[in-house]
Amino acid sequence: MAPLLELPYDIRNVTPEEDKIIKKCLIGYTKPFVKCGKAGYVLPGAFKKQAEVIYNFQVRPDDIWVITYPRSGTTWTQEMVWLLENDLDFESAKRTPLYERFPMLELTTQIPEVAFELIKINFLNLAHFQGLNHGVKCPSWKSLEKAPSPRLIKTHLPLSLLPPNLLKTAKVIYVARDPRDCMVSVYYLHKMVAKSLMRGTFSQFWEAFRRDLLPWMPIISHANEAWEQRNHPNLHFMFYEDMLQDLPKMIHGVSAFLNRDYTDEQINKLAEHLTFSNLKKNKNVNNTTGDSEVQFIRKGEAGGWRTHFDAKMELQAEEYLNDRLRGLTLRYPTFDTDEEWSRL
Ligand code: A3P
Repeated sequence: MAPLLELPYDIRNVTPEEDKIIKKCLIGYTKPFVKCGKAGYVLPGAFKKQAEVIYNFQVRPDDIWVITYPRSGTTWTQEMVWLLENDLDFESAKRTPLYERFPMLELTTQIPEVAFELIKINFLNLAHFQGLNHGVKCPSWKSLEKAPSPRLIKTHLPLSLLPPNLLKTAKVIYVARDPRDCMVSVYYLHKMVAKSLMRGTFSQFWEAFRRDLLPWMPIISHANEAWEQRNHPNLHFMFYEDMLQDLPKMIHGVSAFLNRDYTDEQINKLAEHLTFSNLKKNKNVNNTTGDSEVQFIRKGEAGGWRTHFDAKMELQAEEYLNDRLRGLTLRYPTFDTDEEWSRL
């Protein structure tokens, strides 16, 4: 076996003040959160121990990875990719939950330390932890190591925390979404997961978000790492908003990237399977328990942030986006940067 590569980035605890901001929003974590590397990707403390094995995870040439910041359309894309890779076998897709067909690499590093206590008393929403109700038998990356080829792998980790040979070896699909909509969606996700234990208010989530203090943030560095590789033959970069606008066209793009050959009729059938209303009804994809008032597949719109942000938040969001996008070529289709600075 090849010797383990050393991590090329550092992992440090967030400051106590930052930890407080994060823990106002997220429940069940006792260890301090950590920041990784120059960009300062925020992750639960449990990530520290597994960072090296994840960095050294053995990528296979027939792997297909879907990488996103959470709430960017990951599930939507996973279901699309699974079906494209499985000859549009809609029947089998309906028999097995998507989280089994398309597992998440770092899942077990994300579970709050007291999750199992909360699950036992039926506070935490089990569905979000994707089948972990019987206890964690094995770290998620380990199960993937043993999985037969070809593997489909989901991760929210940015490229810089993933195996360095990933793009050289396997195909990667990256989906980005307007950060403001991601933020709203992340808030509702936590409401769904934490149920009545949710204490974080929308404005506390916004404060954490605009300081890049939620897991897997900073969102723009995350997207930009993939954006910079958008011309790499093994990376396919998409925006959620483009999927909303013309799903068949985006499916064609992914299908070509995966070297699959489908007729327009087949693509249209897949697009129909993937509509918001159909996925919402699909229990193997809509990862929600019946008793939750918020659904995992929730609204499915672009610009929903407008009905959640007050005037001050809107301004702060503009500042946030302008600041983080400064000097980058990455642009979101739904945000006009203040181009003044780019001429300076
Ligand atoms: P909203 O909460 O804004 O509705 P992820 O899978 O990365 O967690 O992303 C979840 C987001 O994608 C949710 O956003 C969800 O509703 C949206 N989504 C899932 N399937 C969709 C579809 N078929 N069409 C549009 N949006 C979809």
